[in-house]
Amino acid sequence: MEAPAPSPPAPARASTAGSIEVAPMTCIIGAELAGVSLADAARDDALFAEIRALLLKHRVLFLRDQDITRADHVAFARRFGKLEDHPIADSDPDHPGLVRIYKDLNSPPEHYENAYHCDATFREAPPMGCVLRCLESPAVGGDTIWVNMVEAHRRLPESVQHQIAGLRARHSIEASFGAAMPMEKRHALRERFPDPEHPVVRTHPETGEKILFVNAFTTHFVNFHTPEHVRCGQDFAPGASQLLNYLISQAQIPEYQVRFRWKKNSVAIWDNRCTQHYAVQDYWPGVRKMERATIVGDRPS
Ligand code: SIN
Repeated sequence: MEAPAPSPPAPARASTAGSIEVAPMTCIIGAELAGVSLADAARDDALFAEIRALLLKHRVLFLRDQDITRADHVAFARRFGKLEDHPIADSDPDHPGLVRIYKDLNSPPEHYENAYHCDATFREAPPMGCVLRCLESPAVGGDTIWVNMVEAHRRLPESVQHQIAGLRARHSIEASFGAAMPMEKRHALRERFPDPEHPVVRTHPETGEKILFVNAFTTHFVNFHTPEHVRCGQDFAPGASQLLNYLISQAQIPEYQVRFRWKKNSVAIWDNRCTQHYAVQDYWPGVRKMERATIVGDRPS
C-alpha cells in the first residue's frame, strides 16, 4: 500500500519576538508582560528565548488574558523541559503534567494551602519552574506572593552567610503532605519519596547566584552538630532549630516579595530554583481554580 502523503508544512508565521512589553512590578522581583500570547511562544523559538531570559532576570513573570487551551499551556511549559505530576494533587486526565489546584466548597478552609515554599523540594531534583494559569478566580482574595530567595541570601548578615555556607538540610514530604495521613499511608509515601538532603545555600545553575534554599518542607540540618557550631550538648537542638527557623522566616520579609491578584486567564511563570511562593488563604467560600504545569529540575548543588 502506498504511504500517505506527508501533510503540508504549517504556514510560516512572522515571529513576534522583540514586541514584548515588560513592566517590572518591584525593583526586587516580578514583571508583568504584555503583547505576547503563550500559545505563540510555544511555537516560536525567538519569542520563547526572550521569555526565558526575562524569567532569569525577574524570577517571576505575569501575563493577563491568556485565553489558551490546555494543550497550549502544556506545549509552552514543555519548551523549558519535561513536566511532572504531583504525588498528592491530581492532574488533568488528558494532559499529564498539568496539575489541578481546585479549591471550592468541597475543600473546606482547613484544606486550603498556605506556607512559604519552593515546589516539591521533597524530591531529589525539585522542579525548575512552573507555569500556573487561573481558570476561575474568587471575587476577592486568593492572591499569590512570590519571594526572591537570592535577595534573601544577599541581605543576610555576613556572619550568618558564613555560618550556613556548608550546611545541608533534609526536606520531607512525609512531614508535610504526609502529616495528616494514617501512619501506614504516611510510611508508604516516605518509601516512594525518601527525604532528600539539599544544600542550605544552592547555586543557580544558569546565573551562578547564591540562593537561600530552605522552606516549609525543610525539617532539620544534617551536618550542624560539629565543634564550630556546638559548644555543649544542649546547644545542638535549640541552636540548630533556631537557626533553621530564622532562615525559613526570611521569606516573610515584604521587601523581597511581589504579590499578584489573579483574574481568569492570568498566568504566572516562576523560577522555582530561586523563589518561594505563598497562596493566600483568604477567600473561602470563594472558588479558585488553577492549573499548574511543573517543569522537571536538576539536583541542587
Ligand atoms: C503552588 O503552590 O504551586 C500554587 C500557588 C497558587 O495556587 O497560587
